[in-house]
Amino acid sequence: MTDLEKIANEINNCTLCDLHKNRTNAVPGEGPEDAKIMLIGEAPGYHEDQQGRPFVGDAGDLLTKLLEEFANLKRDEVFIGNVLKCRPPDNRDPNDEEIEKCSPYLKKQILSIEPKLIVTLGRFATKLLLDRSVKISKEHGELEDGEYGGWNCKLFISYHPAAALYGADVGKKLENDFEKLGEIAKDLNSFKTTKQTTF
Ligand code: URA
Repeated sequence: MTDLEKIANEINNCTLCDLHKNRTNAVPGEGPEDAKIMLIGEAPGYHEDQQGRPFVGDAGDLLTKLLEEFANLKRDEVFIGNVLKCRPPDNRDPNDEEIEKCSPYLKKQILSIEPKLIVTLGRFATKLLLDRSVKISKEHGELEDGEYGGWNCKLFISYHPAAALYGADVGKKLENDFEKLGEIAKDLNSFKTTKQTTF
């Protein structure tokens, strides 16, 4: 069993918060173990809950299109995860405590993959990883030096595909974010990463 499969098992069996009680499936991250880019969404929606896989509903279709048509990346070459690994379909607004309880799984996935670049889609992931409040409308499209759970790498902030689907007039900005991601992805091999060691 690979490390990622072990983590997925832990996630599927997790009972740390009450969200596991009413969801259909937990939604571990998905993608190649040696992915250089890790994309982090917010939380599963209805289709993800039904299928136990990240980004398989409308937001997932849009994400695939943005990756392929604007970033020139294949969906199956990036690792795609979420901040929250389970969310019952009637819970649209995860609270801080649920996010906190779930965050060790995100850390384990990051440390297992050791990506060169993390892409945060939306405010939960960006806030959690940068450890500060973030205004996506101002900071989207920015590349930062990120540190999360002992892993240092670049972090790119993007709008979430769902923002364009449900209300906000950000379609063009989202496309620009993914075009920029495509440009950044060309330089991945020159990015330095480090793991912090504790003594
Ligand atoms: N939105 C997310 O943040 N994650 C998913 O898996 C689906 C929609």
